[in-house]
Amino acid sequence: MRVGIIMGGVSSEYEVSLMTGREMVAHLDRKKYDVLPIIVTKREELIDRVRDIDFALLALHGAFGEDGTVQGALETLGVPYSGSGVLSSSLCMDKDLSKMLMRAEGIPTPDWRRLSLENWQEQAAGAGFPVFVKPNNGGSSIGVRRADHEEDLYGAVTEAFRWDRTVIVESMIEGQEITCSIVDGEFLPVLGIRAARADWFDYDAKYTDGGAEEAPISLPHEVYSRVRETALACCRLFKCGVYARIDMILHNDTPFVLEVNTLPGMTKTSLLPRSAEAAGWTYAELLDRIIEGSLR
Ligand code: DAL
Ligand code: MG
Repeated sequence: MRVGIIMGGVSSEYEVSLMTGREMVAHLDRKKYDVLPIIVTKREELIDRVRDIDFALLALHGAFGEDGTVQGALETLGVPYSGSGVLSSSLCMDKDLSKMLMRAEGIPTPDWRRLSLENWQEQAAGAGFPVFVKPNNGGSSIGVRRADHEEDLYGAVTEAFRWDRTVIVESMIEGQEITCSIVDGEFLPVLGIRAARADWFDYDAKYTDGGAEEAPISLPHEVYSRVRETALACCRLFKCGVYARIDMILHNDTPFVLEVNTLPGMTKTSLLPRSAEAAGWTYAELLDRIIEGSLR
């Protein structure tokens, strides 16, 4: 089977995507698959480059890749691909919409407001601090800043609007940051995250060796069940495909969902491969499970 590993893209997570792609290229089992790395830097390049492959292993992140657009193109071309479908991908990419759906479903998520450039001051008024200011469609914490006081807001909002036309301010919830990975129906070990230097899990903490401690966490049975149920409820709600990673803050034993990642990072320092490793899977086995599950 000829597997094209699609990486690069046009989003702010271009570099992260190359790191994910490189890991996939290094680990995919050559006895089983013919591996074709495909780096795209323009949207229109995709169509010609996927014509001869049997399967598209998506290493893309962010807009055009994780947001349903590439998925739609591949559906149209009849090329099977890894991860979630069009609707799931686009819903999960939109932080505001996905939080609205979680709230409607009774899944705890931190309070937030959606800001538009024209009148963000009124929309943000009374939000309370600290908050995280985030581009609505982003990833890897690019363009995200924490604002502890009113006077931090202007800089944080200005930065976020550099990356997106819609921005959210999300209340910071005190607690333990955790992440849940689900692959091919299996709930992998929950990881606890502690940034080493930064006071939150920012880009450097995510992608610098030693930037954060991410280790399996043991939780009291009842809390673990709640975390697991919440993660699975998210997968059902958003109709996620073969794999997903759900990021949460555990606050007083209640998991608050920050977001659902439909193409979670698969770099050397990323969470999902670490969680798979804790389950005893090699990276190559993880890729096998993703490919087999996607084709089923
Ligand atoms: N957006 C990055 C790649 C992640 O969620 O892992
Ligand atoms: Mg994300």
